[in-house]
Amino acid sequence: MTVLVRPAQLADLDGLVRLEEASFETDKLSRRSFRHWITTDHRALLVAQTQAEQRIVGYILIIYHPGTRLARIYSLAVSPQQRGAGIAKLLMSAGEQAAKDSGRLYLRLEVSVDNGPAIRLYERLGFQKFGIYRDYYEDHKDALRYQKRIRRYSDTLQHRSVHWLKQTTPFTCGPAALMMAMHGLNRAYQPSREEEINLWREATTIFMTSGHGGCHPIGLALAAKRRRFTVEVWINQTGTLFIDSVRSDEKKQVVELVDNCFKREATEQGIAIHYANITQDELISAFKSGAIPLILISTFLMDRKKAPHWVVMSGFDDDCLYMHDSDPDYGRQSELDCQFIPIAREDFDRMSCFGKNRLRTAVIIWPG
Ligand SMILES: CC(C)(COP(=O)(O)OP(=O)(O)OC[C@H]1O[C@@H](n2cnc3c(N)ncnc32)[C@H](O)[C@@H]1OP(=O)(O)O)[C@@H](O)C(=O)NCCC(=O)NCCS
Repeated sequence: MTVLVRPAQLADLDGLVRLEEASFETDKLSRRSFRHWITTDHRALLVAQTQAEQRIVGYILIIYHPGTRLARIYSLAVSPQQRGAGIAKLLMSAGEQAAKDSGRLYLRLEVSVDNGPAIRLYERLGFQKFGIYRDYYEDHKDALRYQKRIRRYSDTLQHRSVHWLKQTTPFTCGPAALMMAMHGLNRAYQPSREEEINLWREATTIFMTSGHGGCHPIGLALAAKRRRFTVEVWINQTGTLFIDSVRSDEKKQVVELVDNCFKREATEQGIAIHYANITQDELISAFKSGAIPLILISTFLMDRKKAPHWVVMSGFDDDCLYMHDSDPDYGRQSELDCQFIPIAREDFDRMSCFGKNRLRTAVIIWPG
């Protein structure tokens, strides 16, 4: 039987839904989801079709994450009658090629702990296990997490076991990032929602962009210092931060007042503030020496909105810096995609600066 692999079209919908019904008992993709994935960008949806009868006998869906070099195998299935004939291998290799062509560095996936055939397939294709996710599926089974470096093998990845946390409000990325870092450095430190809000109250600029204020780097540093961590702040400009993100004079005055207070208190507390551009090498060097940096990024590459957003550095290798991001939006399909997000070195400088003044700032948290 000759099988051809090609991109899915709307005319394949019936065949895809039939295949999905025959392949999965839970967590099935609906007709609507298939329609969505056929017509959207940032993905590869490929089908395997028999050449003689032109029947759909398999598909693979790979999703690309905007702004990062990550691709995720969201689903893979081969018709029960055609299994064992190498069709999944064909789909995987075409999918890997499509991901490579779109500039992705990593393929990641989750597979149920009891799905022997799929686990064997992924391991044979060079995927490496890098974690487990408890109670992941609708039937409460655990998922194994696998990844494969698809551009070039890298054995230089150094990472920290940072527990991922989800921010519980739209404006608390800073507190969530800080809690991840403090817990990563000292397991006795306990994150909580109350703590998230308290940290925000300690570090907020009051106003920022159109809504509530986000967190000021020095505000975050002071909050960490109060909790007995050692801190260091990098800011590449001396003026009032985020002042251009608010329009009215009244708001500008408040933002300026808060900025002045933070700076004065930092001086009183002996917090080191470097008024300079922090480089990737400096971030990596701090990380290697035991610190966990918080980095301000612009969400522009992810959602085109240019919002300021705090993330935590969780690893690095020759090609990427890895981040944990407390916000599961930005087109990511699961919480797993918010952890160890690979940002290619060549994209990092563009991503880690905010606004028309190109603010680059980081707070380096050290164990106390
Ligand atoms: C997993 C699945 C996609 C494999 O499809 P397939 O076309 O039969 O796989 P292939 O014939 O390409 O086999 C490729 C490799 O997978 C492994 N494999 C496939 N079926 C296997 C089985 N029943 N037992 C053990 N290993 C198996 C083997 O390593 C095989 O290579 P080998 O034959 O050279 O040893 C298919 O079983 C399926 O659709 N299952 C239901 C849906 C599913 O579980 N999808 C994965 C979700 S994470």
